[in-house]
Amino acid sequence: MEKAERPLIEFRNVKKTYKVGDTLVHALNGIDLKLMPGEICCIVGTSGSGKSTLLNVSAGLERVSSGEIIVSGRHIEKLSESNLILFRQKYVGFIFQSFNLMPYYTAVENVAFPLAFRGINKQKREKKAKELLCEVGLETHLNHKPTQLSGGQQQRVGIARALVTNPNIIFADEPTGNLDSVTSREVMELICGIVRKQGKTLIMVTHDKQMAEYGDKVITLIDGKIV
Ligand SMILES: Nc1ncnc2c1ncn2[C@@H]1O[C@H](COP(=O)(O)OP(=O)(O)O)[C@@H](O)[C@H]1O
Ligand SMILES: [Mg+2]
Repeated sequence: MEKAERPLIEFRNVKKTYKVGDTLVHALNGIDLKLMPGEICCIVGTSGSGKSTLLNVSAGLERVSSGEIIVSGRHIEKLSESNLILFRQKYVGFIFQSFNLMPYYTAVENVAFPLAFRGINKQKREKKAKELLCEVGLETHLNHKPTQLSGGQQQRVGIARALVTNPNIIFADEPTGNLDSVTSREVMELICGIVRKQGKTLIMVTHDKQMAEYGDKVITLIDGKIV
């Protein structure tokens, strides 16, 4: 069991450097950070400041160049590729700016998809997917395909898909970046409401300062550093 006072995610002097031709890009330049379980953390900063990189290394999608990232007591920078995949399957849900839904699949099939790798039968997968879709207010659109849904509805499907595996941590990279301001507020309230209700931890990148108001903690990045 996680002790409440122990950080869920801890960064210790994390650096991520990309080599582009002959130049080095310091996407993360010494990040120290502690996030507590149940916290909503918003990451803000201009384009190119390292927000997505911070999210991707936390979620185990990319490797750090140096430093330590400890999630639920595990040093993820030390995990092998196969253990990293298991870590992601067990702990991580991801919400994307561009929704990333599969175009030929219905809402139910999109949400059920992450469960396919977990040895859960189709009937159970679809039952769970329907529950989640009801939770995000899409009970009348279960069998719609992405092109038959508005942007806000597609992102609701994306939210349901991120939650279907019951992960501890939800990562969202500009989840309202493709939505108008009214829909953005609705989607943000939905994400934060579910996260709070289920006691999950949310780390969200947003370049919209207004959206950052939803966070318990706001982290501002400039040139790969927290300011
Ligand atoms: N795969 C990559 N290869 C080379 N450079 C990258 C790569 N990913 C990101 N970068 C660079 O790292 C910096 C931070 O990028 P990113 O984390 O995507 O910023 P943000 O999400 O804040 O816009 C930028 O200068 C970007 O060009
Ligand atoms: Mg980005």
